Amino acid sequence: MSVLAYCAYQEFLESGLKTVIITGGAGFIGSAVIRYLIEQRDYRVVNFDKLTYAGNLESLVTVADHPNYHFERGDICDHVAVRKLFNEYQPEAIMHLAAESHVDRSIDGPAEFINTNIVGTSVLLEAARYYWSGLDDKDAFRFHHVSTDEVFGTLGATGLFHEQSPYQPSSPYSASKASSDHLVRAWHETYGLPVVITNCSNNYGPYQFPEKLIPLIILNALDGKPLPVYGKGEQIRDWLYVDDHARALTLVMEEGSLGETCNIGGHNEMMNIDVVKTVCRLLDERVAEHPQGVSEFAELIHFVADRPGHDQRYAIDASKINNDLGWKPRETFETGLAKTIDWYLGNQQWCDHVRDGSYQGERLGLASGE
Ligand SMILES: NC(=O)c1ccc[n+]([C@@H]2O[C@H](COP(=O)([O-])OP(=O)(O)OC[C@H]3O[C@@H](n4cnc5c(N)ncnc54)[C@H](O)[C@@H]3O)[C@@H](O)[C@H]2O)c1
Repeated sequence: MSVLAYCAYQEFLESGLKTVIITGGAGFIGSAVIRYLIEQRDYRVVNFDKLTYAGNLESLVTVADHPNYHFERGDICDHVAVRKLFNEYQPEAIMHLAAESHVDRSIDGPAEFINTNIVGTSVLLEAARYYWSGLDDKDAFRFHHVSTDEVFGTLGATGLFHEQSPYQPSSPYSASKASSDHLVRAWHETYGLPVVITNCSNNYGPYQFPEKLIPLIILNALDGKPLPVYGKGEQIRDWLYVDDHARALTLVMEEGSLGETCNIGGHNEMMNIDVVKTVCRLLDERVAEHPQGVSEFAELIHFVADRPGHDQRYAIDASKINNDLGWKPRETFETGLAKTIDWYLGNQQWCDHVRDGSYQGERLGLASGE
């Protein structure tokens, strides 16, 4: 470590602010949480991330040199590194976002999902329990587990997921997240570890890796590539702008009831095909020069074989977090999507670097090897 880096590190350790460890802070949602905690709140933040294909420190350039931010590269499955992390930074809270997060990849290779999402969470829980058991003020500590509404499986044409909805995961991804939710709850019931759990609907916004629907559509459209829509595109998702999620997560970490779960959603139910058409329309309004032979981006829409086990509909009842914590999303789908598209149009360098990596937009997750 250079002298300058050592001084910055000492300043960080001695800042006297509350410390939060974020696992997976170089990912899409984790980086939004870190930007929020550093730029709009007064926390000392340690980002613990393995930097898999989905982790990107370029998503944190706005806070990278901030004295309250520190990055540690590491794997949540590594017992020694995780124990050292707690010991060194003495956090008031940990927000656990590190995960393998893409359903299609979980269909092609479930082992990594089981390892990171289930085993990794158990390693964190044990290290947190060991650290917490030595604290004088045990009530002040929080283990916040960040999870998904996909643990509840699929809804029919009506109804909403609420906090008591039964767990019925359909994919290896959602099954691994469901398992980790159960572990976290068990560590509360069995050992008294002060945990909170959140289950959120689909996020979108800046810095999302372009294997997920919205950035994939934006970047493929700009390149004049086909816009793949699974099946007939009739699956319904409940979309939430990522900065609204970051605010909600912080609120639950600070004020959520111990041992309880809280659903987070944006009341923005939309069919995938309508999401894709809206992205195309907003791009048409913004991009003067279309790719050759294309007059409207929607001409590029291309229906492809559906994902195996594809859940039909997700929709969240967010009344608990609305009523108990006073949280409401600030963005509508239209305003959030417009911001998102403007961000991708203005940040081509981030997009190019991500696309220079291992992922070039190929179809994943057909299970049949198609
Ligand atoms: N994206 C969504 O729509 C959504 C919705 C609800 C909940 N969630 C949950 O939120 C969390 C974050 O999702 P995201 O979309 O930001 O994911 P992401 O894939 O963008 O980021 C995951 C991050 O975790 C890191 N990571 C992976 N394995 C690791 C390991 N073994 N040790 C340390 N770091 C590791 C990666 O490097 C990456 O930075 C996940 O737990 C996910 O299940 C996501």
